[in-house]
Amino acid sequence: MSSNEEARFSLFSKKKTQKIDKADLKIPVHLAVIMDGNGRWAKKRMLPRSAGHRAGADNLKNLCKNCGHYGIKYVTVYAFSTENWSRPESEVHTLMELFVEYFDRYDPELEQEGIRVRFTGDIKSLPENIQAVCKRAEEGSKHRTRMTLIVAFNYGGRREIVQAAQKLAQQVKEGKIKEEEITEELFAQNLYLPDVPDPDLIIRPSGEERTSNFLVWEGAYSELWFSDVLWPDFGMKELTEALEAYTKRDRRFGGLTKEKKE
Ligand code: IPE
Ligand code: IPE
Ligand code: MG
Repeated sequence: MSSNEEARFSLFSKKKTQKIDKADLKIPVHLAVIMDGNGRWAKKRMLPRSAGHRAGADNLKNLCKNCGHYGIKYVTVYAFSTENWSRPESEVHTLMELFVEYFDRYDPELEQEGIRVRFTGDIKSLPENIQAVCKRAEEGSKHRTRMTLIVAFNYGGRREIVQAAQKLAQQVKEGKIKEEEITEELFAQNLYLPDVPDPDLIIRPSGEERTSNFLVWEGAYSELWFSDVLWPDFGMKELTEALEAYTKRDRRFGGLTKEKKE
């Protein structure tokens, strides 16, 4: 190896093993988390799946606190997918009940942390009482500015894209826009939350390495990070590990790394 090559090699291996100082962590503006593994968490403890969902819902509180600590501005969590309706009725019922309880119960803590709550998903198709919960949580937290928690509920990335296409088709039909005016920007403006920046980092605990119809459009250039830890056990240690990995990523967006640009 030439001395030049040796220097490059040692730089490379250093980069791989070096622990990142907290102050040097790159903090994503928008973090998204697939809260998966509740069922397996319960099974390991010989508890019913509902106990896993309860533990998972409790852990959302910790995630909010930990993300607040790092100054993350937007946190989207996947709580119920458009495909989760295919689970047994009793499990769906538990998940709906937990949802209804959650925002009233934890509102004082959310208030204390300065967390605004928003929802994404096919909310209009949900039962009236669930829609009322969404409205109440959104209205009551509108003034909070430290962080925005976005709860993806009855959410499916494909459904979001189909609904955006339907809205655009309607606008064409009404003569408000021309077909050729449909660009990526206009399309994105017709998604559920057009004012929210795309997620920088998507985390999935539980050992599964797929996105399961989460943020299909918005996640086109998101960094992905997978962990074997089950969602109810996903804490500060795991979040910090994810942020360390994210800090080392080279986000090129199809371009070149900064050093190679010229
Ligand atoms: C995530 O945990 C919660 C929802 C999908 C609503 P799971 O219930 O999918 O847990 P596992 O994957 O069976 O362990
Ligand atoms: C994804 O988890 C949805 C949520 C966490 C809400 P699933 O458990 O539903 O996903 P699959 O079935 O493993 O892909
Ligand atoms: Mg699962």
